Amino acid sequence: MTTQIVHLNGKFMPIEDARVPVLDRGFIFGDGVYEVIPAYAREPFALDGHLERLEASMAGIGLSNPHTRAQWAKLVGEVIAKNEPQDQAVYLQVTRGVAPRDHAFPEGVAPTVFIMSGPLKPVPAEQVENGVPAIALADNRWLRCNLKTTSLLANVLLRQAAVEAGAAECVLFRDGFLTEGSASNIFAVRAGKVLAPPKSNLILPGITYDVVLELAREGGIPVEVRPVPEAEARSADELWLSSSSKEVLAITTLDGKAVGNGRPGPIFQKVHALFQARKPRARAPAQVVGA
Ligand code: PDD
Repeated sequence: MTTQIVHLNGKFMPIEDARVPVLDRGFIFGDGVYEVIPAYAREPFALDGHLERLEASMAGIGLSNPHTRAQWAKLVGEVIAKNEPQDQAVYLQVTRGVAPRDHAFPEGVAPTVFIMSGPLKPVPAEQVENGVPAIALADNRWLRCNLKTTSLLANVLLRQAAVEAGAAECVLFRDGFLTEGSASNIFAVRAGKVLAPPKSNLILPGITYDVVLELAREGGIPVEVRPVPEAEARSADELWLSSSSKEVLAITTLDGKAVGNGRPGPIFQKVHALFQARKPRARAPAQVVGA
């Protein structure tokens, strides 16, 4: 196995050598933000969108941004270059740094910056072909879900409940409306239209969400970005989830009940195909002319 190289506070090193003090506020309070950026054929996908959201998350928690957009892009590129796989999942985390434990922000403390990258596991063909099961749960997270914070306990417990029910993801509802999944955005399809919950403090503004809606519009599929009542989601013809690691997947059962006819629907098939076509691919090896 080749060594995984990570970036920690300005230095590159094997992951085994990366150490963070126990008083890091990320460890003590979950006081930080993060991004997961897919890279296909070593090319980060929708990098600007991810870095813009990172900046918004930092601003949203009052964490001073230690780098310019160009510096972040360079660091992400360097981590990708130093690791082996063609397709990678870059994980980037910034915390409020190391300080004696006190809830209030410390003064004059440098943020901790950590970037690692591992293989981006291909989405199993079986999941693309058959879809995945999901369960419905009450969204009991805080009211600032638009920030991509490392405090993920509620998401962790929700995902675990899904796993224990034999499901791949949960579909969350708050006050009678669809929000998102524990680590994905959720879409419904009814009467040929894609319904997407609008961006608000109640959902993460997914980068894949943007790509999915853009592809649907380009493909001539009607899109309605509006609050989706629970009853409409539960009786949808199709349900999808989207994320940087899962791309776009059909949810084919909800609470053990078939969604539509229980198979990935035609609109999913179309958007999934457009998504695959959008992904950067490894360049074919140069042709040997005249050989
Ligand atoms: N999760 N909603 C939540 C709560 C998420 O955690 C994620 C991503 C998404 C999808 O966002 P994007 O398309 O930008 O990945 C929506 C990442 C993958 C994670 O925590 O591992």
